[in-house]
Amino acid sequence: MLRLGVNIDHVATVRNARGGAYPDPVRAAKMAEEAGADGITAHLREDRRHIMDADIDALMDALTVPLNFEMAATDEMLMIALRHKPHAVCIVPEKREERTTEGGLEVSREENKLAHFIAPLRDVGCRVSIFIAADQRQIEAANRIGAEVIELHTGAYCDFHAEGRFDERDAELARLREMASFAHSLGLEVHAGHGLTYDTVQPIAALPEVMELNIGHFLIGEAIFAGLDPAIREMRRLMDEARA
Ligand code: PXP
Repeated sequence: MLRLGVNIDHVATVRNARGGAYPDPVRAAKMAEEAGADGITAHLREDRRHIMDADIDALMDALTVPLNFEMAATDEMLMIALRHKPHAVCIVPEKREERTTEGGLEVSREENKLAHFIAPLRDVGCRVSIFIAADQRQIEAANRIGAEVIELHTGAYCDFHAEGRFDERDAELARLREMASFAHSLGLEVHAGHGLTYDTVQPIAALPEVMELNIGHFLIGEAIFAGLDPAIREMRRLMDEARA
């Protein structure tokens, strides 16, 4: 069974454009649950550009499906995660000037620091996931630091597709396929996400080792035209079709 995690960050982006209370990301999360999301993903960034602390409080209260809390490896975020103890914590790299999470985490460069960082999260029962590129060195390092899950960054694959660079897209897809299999062979659970759309989801959903996809920006954009519920149901249908 391939799980769908719906990322509701960009409902908050639209809300924050005016600084008021709507559209409410918690309402979107509840609707996503109704539409068949297996989990909700939210990224509390250091600059609070979309999700804010109160959104995490409200999501923890309101959700019946697991929350996947995305965060950078900072002391501030660690305190927040330990207070809430969400089902899963996904550690992502974060740069202030970036528009979105541009690359995967350089686990191999910060192995010791990250091993110490994730230990208390694991101790309180959070499933710790590390967001990385399809790179064997990073996967091996994620395994060594004690992560249970890796999430493979599909952004490059999606960008190549959007730019019509199909040879490079196919090469990246081959890397994702090989690295999903490698990570699985080490005993890691494999997730994937970033930039996925109706056009790019199926080859990723078809990778047998991938257990969960986290998808946000495209779904929130598509919701403007189709509504959030139909957009999520269509994504779910495409995932199931690819898996079958
Ligand atoms: N997975 C991770 C780790 C992410 O950081 C993001 C973006 O916040 C996503 C998945 C979802 O990406 P998108 O919004 O492009 O679908």
